[in-house]
Amino acid sequence: MTVNHLDTPFAIKNLELKNRIVMAPMCQYSVEAKDGAPNDWHFVHYVSRAVGGAGLIIMEMTDVDPDGRITDLDLGLWSDEQIPAFKRIISEVHNYGAKIGIQIAHAGRKAEDADQPVGPSAISAGPRYKTPRPLSTDEIKWIVQQFKEAARRAVEAGVDTIEIHGAHGYLVHQFHSPGINIREDEYGQDPARFGVEVIQAIKRVMPADMPLIMRISAIEYMDNGYDLNHGIQMSRQYHAAGVDVFHVSSGGEGGPAGKLQPGNYPGYQVPFARAIKEALNVPVIAVGMLDDPKLAEATVANEDADLVAVARGMLRDPYWALHAIQAVKGEAVPQKQYARAY
Ligand SMILES: Cc1cc2nc3c(=O)[nH]c(=O)nc-3n(C[C@H](O)[C@H](O)[C@H](O)COP(=O)(O)O)c2cc1C
Repeated sequence: MTVNHLDTPFAIKNLELKNRIVMAPMCQYSVEAKDGAPNDWHFVHYVSRAVGGAGLIIMEMTDVDPDGRITDLDLGLWSDEQIPAFKRIISEVHNYGAKIGIQIAHAGRKAEDADQPVGPSAISAGPRYKTPRPLSTDEIKWIVQQFKEAARRAVEAGVDTIEIHGAHGYLVHQFHSPGINIREDEYGQDPARFGVEVIQAIKRVMPADMPLIMRISAIEYMDNGYDLNHGIQMSRQYHAAGVDVFHVSSGGEGGPAGKLQPGNYPGYQVPFARAIKEALNVPVIAVGMLDDPKLAEATVANEDADLVAVARGMLRDPYWALHAIQAVKGEAVPQKQYARAY
């Protein structure tokens, strides 16, 4: 057995993780019934990664309103009727020692199947998107309430944590992006205001000892997109409002394309995670091409991030976590039924 950091516990508030490995949220676009409720595909998909050894699973983008879906095949939490199907996944994941959260979101101007997508301002995300209708103040307040109701349902379903999707050009990100939000009201003057109201509303229905995660795009790549300083400033305001952990990603805001391109190499977003961790003194999750176990190990060992999230690597290998631990530690403990293979 070799000393390692990946297979060490991590705790924040009452969330106790057995290791530093997170399954990143990944839309499955598999709700054929279009009712927002997870089905057997989602059950198998998430439970497999729990058996595969992940410490924390973050269920995919789950929308607070039918018109806040990217497509009609997305998961949703806009109705109490959706709770039991989530509960079934969550309790089975718990049987294998993993913790599980859910990413709640509104797609805003990136809602592809909505007849009339909404957003902070009437600026389209690009040629393949409809032009959004700017939200009125009353509608903004109503969406904040929908986030709160979705969070209440997630808690009722038994989640261990909630992640707000404030990245990748969806509604929370749209508001805090000066290039996408050109409102002149209070939601334009303070670009973090919408996200802060969402955080405050969600915190009211979360148990006080349950940590709140927020995914953020640290920088934008579009023409005149925001830089890391702006990403840190938004995170600072979100942290003050009650976010406990930042899950640091980048981009996804849509066009017009700028000169900057997202990195396409291992660990390309780790410097952003480290910058937010250092600026705010807050735990962070790093993500983005971290599926080489040595790189994942180094990211935690060097204290660039507290946790590492893997997305595509876990699609290729549901047992990625066990295999990564085996690679860096020399041994891994699978579910007892599989012990003879290890
Ligand atoms: C199929 C797929 C679906 C995704 N869906 C989401 C999502 O629902 N929410 C989100 O924040 N990111 C989503 N992402 C981005 C991933 O969470 C992750 O940030 C990205 O893939 C980079 O990590 P990786 O290099 O380990 O794949 C998705 C990625 C993939 C490949």
